[in-house]
Amino acid sequence: MYILGIETSCDETGVALYHSDRGLIQHSLYSQIAMHNEYGGIVPELASRDHIRKLVPLIDECLQRSQLTKAEIQGIAYTAGPGLIGALLVGAATAKSLAWSLDIPALGVHHMEGHLLAPMLEKQPPEFPFVALLVSGGHTLLVEVKAIGQYQLLGESLDDAAGEAFDKAAKMLGLAYPGGPLLAKLAEQGNANRFKFPRPMTNRPGLDFSFSGLKTFTMNTLNNTEKTAQDKADVAFAFQQATAETLAIKCKRALKHTGLKRLVVAGGVSANTQIRQTLTTMCNKERAEIFFPRPEFCTDNGAMIAYAGCQRLLAQQQESLSINARPRWPIDELYARTE
Ligand code: KG4
Ligand code: ZN
Repeated sequence: MYILGIETSCDETGVALYHSDRGLIQHSLYSQIAMHNEYGGIVPELASRDHIRKLVPLIDECLQRSQLTKAEIQGIAYTAGPGLIGALLVGAATAKSLAWSLDIPALGVHHMEGHLLAPMLEKQPPEFPFVALLVSGGHTLLVEVKAIGQYQLLGESLDDAAGEAFDKAAKMLGLAYPGGPLLAKLAEQGNANRFKFPRPMTNRPGLDFSFSGLKTFTMNTLNNTEKTAQDKADVAFAFQQATAETLAIKCKRALKHTGLKRLVVAGGVSANTQIRQTLTTMCNKERAEIFFPRPEFCTDNGAMIAYAGCQRLLAQQQESLSINARPRWPIDELYARTE
């Protein structure tokens, strides 16, 4: 069964074709970063309008590169939320219209479930159950995953998401939007022994996160320097190290709390090399397995949506032709997949 996946929740138009037996066939991505760059962040209305321009050509491109026709698609999965309402509606309306014209089902997928299942696209996918750390621009979640749709929230950020903290710290360092990957690049030149940043909320029990204090600490530290290139690199290093270690402490705690020995890390921030290394070292020490998506599937993409939608369509999950999008949607409200 060929499934078309559509992702339009934020600033990336992602499209993919996934086959239930053959796996991922093709995927195409268009990033709006250059357009939002001059505003220093995402402008929601511009994002929606650009998805309208790019989505249909991207679907055609993906089909062409796969040497498939629309008639061969047997189901459509689209991101129904959480995300920017206008951007979500473009994907939802396109998916539903195309599904109606082809007389096939369309199903709304939870964006964070897409991220959570992205490692399933790799050669050695994790088995259930596992603990998932989801670190993106909008969310930081620790989830106990028993099966598809059986998600128990263990902890979340009480303020900024990890990616948001990266982007805000990057802005202070004079970097462009989205600053996460640029801050990581700058940190490569940083001196490891110069600054020691706090590891927020690690000295009390619990699995929640808070990154806003780290942001303030970054600002104060930077303001106490001359802001030379080396000062900025040293601050970037300390910020990244503190974030990586905070995530590792909480993941270790979540593995202990659940008794599980398997960790999945996904979402845009999981593309960060330092974070991947720190979490891998922690898992090796704990004799736990660790799984990541390949870096291009850490950030938003259509492949993860096609995969998640395929699993739910195979389980006969259905929805009406009405167009739905949920800008806010807690992941533990998802139904367990019935076999
Ligand atoms: O998952 P994602 O593509 O979109 C959301 O669902 O939010 O995550 C985007 C976030 C941004 O905040 C971006 O700065 C961050 O992921 N990010 C990174 C890296 N690559 C992307 N943060 C740190 N290091 C990276 N290499
Ligand atoms: Zn995302």
